[in-house]
Amino acid sequence: MPKTIFGKTKNEYINETPRSKLRGISTKDLSNNNAASSEVFTLRENKLYNRMSTKNIQVNNIDEQNPSRKGPVLVVGGLFIVFEGIDGTGKSTQLHLLAEKLQQLGYAVVSTREPTDGPFGQKIRELFVDRGVASQEEELELFIADRDQHVQEVIVPALADGCVVVCDRYYLSTVAYQGANGMDTEFIMKKNNDFPVPDLAIILEIEPAQGIHRIQNQRNENPNTFENEANLRKVAAIFSLMQHPYITRIDAADSVENVHQQVLSVVEKTLAHKTIQTVRN
Ligand code: TYD
Repeated sequence: MPKTIFGKTKNEYINETPRSKLRGISTKDLSNNNAASSEVFTLRENKLYNRMSTKNIQVNNIDEQNPSRKGPVLVVGGLFIVFEGIDGTGKSTQLHLLAEKLQQLGYAVVSTREPTDGPFGQKIRELFVDRGVASQEEELELFIADRDQHVQEVIVPALADGCVVVCDRYYLSTVAYQGANGMDTEFIMKKNNDFPVPDLAIILEIEPAQGIHRIQNQRNENPNTFENEANLRKVAAIFSLMQHPYITRIDAADSVENVHQQVLSVVEKTLAHKTIQTVRN
């Protein structure tokens, strides 16, 4: 007897049930039937949205009103790209430009960031006002707890769905910032051992004084308690010593467009090692 769902075989259930109710069915099962794959994917995007209530997750919407549009381009096992570097390097701008470009190319992109807007991320943001309210150890634990939830609820499911995940800061930031705060960098790395290793970590490099200048003049913000120049010099020094095969360094003092072109070139090379599936409508 094949396994049944509400008295129907899986295929009967998929074919006869409205798309909006088809939760928990894998993309593989759905792409076997005649359903418009873009719709299928939107369904899974909604599932992602529901997992962690953080405002910063953005998934590209496949346009269901436009049937001529191709379905998403999926990466088998996903592609995990993180942007790293000191404050004021333009990480968020570059992340946004990359996400937009990948979406145009048809990839299913999840843009996210750490600290998140989840419960631990909100506690972390309180430290930006007064870092003295937590000990070094407590500060580290908050970043790890925030990452743990982020990885479980957003990053791993999105990669399993074949998305490109682009994340603004990840564990190399913890090594650099909590290392600059006096914690042992090897100890910090060990605390992050269980989290997925990114396919690509782009470290944007800039002189700390220029980073502070950008925060003040371009964002019109006052540097927070993590962003004073002496601290950023220590953070930059730790970033500069990191050696992992997945790290690429880019000079962020160059123009936005030039940096973007360099980012694209390294992402293309990383994608070349992945298996891509184009899902057609
Ligand atoms: P930032 O990227 O500036 O976030 P936002 O634009 O939302 O303010 O990151 C906030 C600060 O958090 C930044 O100064 C670096 C710090 N940080 C750590 O100290 N450790 C970490 O693990 C992470 C992810 C960030």
